Amino acid sequence: MFTRDDFVKMKKEGKKVAWVTAYDYPTAHLAQKAGMDMILVGDSLGMVMYGYDSTVPVTMDECIIHCRAVRRGAPDVFVIGDMPFLSYQISVEDSIRNAGRFLKEASMNCIKLEGGRRVKDKIRGIVDAGILVMGHIGLTPQSSGQLGGFKAQGRTAQSAEETIKDALAVQEAGAFAILLEAVPPELAKAITKMLDIPVYGIGAGKDTDGQVLICADLLGLFETFTPKFVKKYENLAAKVVNAFQQYIKDVRKGSFPGPEHGYSVFEKEKDAFDKVVERYMKER
Ligand code: KIV
Repeated sequence: MFTRDDFVKMKKEGKKVAWVTAYDYPTAHLAQKAGMDMILVGDSLGMVMYGYDSTVPVTMDECIIHCRAVRRGAPDVFVIGDMPFLSYQISVEDSIRNAGRFLKEASMNCIKLEGGRRVKDKIRGIVDAGILVMGHIGLTPQSSGQLGGFKAQGRTAQSAEETIKDALAVQEAGAFAILLEAVPPELAKAITKMLDIPVYGIGAGKDTDGQVLICADLLGLFETFTPKFVKKYENLAAKVVNAFQQYIKDVRKGSFPGPEHGYSVFEKEKDAFDKVVERYMKER
C-alpha cells in the first residue's frame, strides 16, 4: 500500500497517480485487482448509490458503512474517506471527532474535505490530531448552491486568484494533497507547479499529479448525467440492461434455470425420496 511519502515522491518523479471512487466491496476488490493507486469513498455515493440529487443529504453513518465495505474489498490500497456536508463545517472539535471516525471505525488512510481558506482552521485541527487530510477545491459539490450549480471554477482572473489562494491555504494548513475539481487546465497546471504537495485533478486537465474519476462514470453505469470531463471506458449500463433482458426472456420461456443449475437427490436416498413425494402428492 502506498503512503503519503510515496505520493510526494511520485510527484517529484513525475509519476502520475490513478485513482477512482468506490462505494462497495466488489468495486473496491476489482479496483485493487486492477492496480489502482488510491480509492476515494466519495460522498458522491449519495448521488450514485442513493439517487439523491446532490451530495448534501449524505450522513457520516452512511459514509462509514461504505468505507468499511471498501476497506474489506481493498485491504491493500490507500483509501480516502470523504467528509460529508456539515461533518466539518461547524467547529474544529466536531471536525476532528468526525474525521477520527473514518480511521477508528473504517480503517481509512486519510480523509478529504471541501473548501479552501474558509476551512483552514478545520484542516489544521484535523492534521494536528494526527490525521492525513486531502483538500478539495475548485468546484466543491457540497456548496454547489453557493456556486450557482455544478459549475467549473477559475474561469475568470478573479476566480482563478480565489482558487490559487485556496490552494495555498490548504497546503499551509497541513494537508498532504489537494484535489482540484473542474478548473481550466492552465490554472491546474500552475497550481500543480506552485505547490509542494501533490495536486490531483478531476476535470482539471492532464497536467496535475494524477487523476480521479467517479467509478460509475468511468464504467458507464450512471445515466442521470455525465459531466464534460468524464471519459467512459465502458458502457456497462447497456450491458447490464441487456443481461437483465436476457434473464427476463429466459425465465418467461422456462429456459432458466436449466438442469445444470439445480441440485440432485443423493443416489442412496432416491427410493425413499420418491416415496415421500408420492405420498404427499396423493394426499393433495
Ligand atoms: O465525492 C466524490 O466522489 C468526489 C469526486 C469529485 C472525486 O469528491
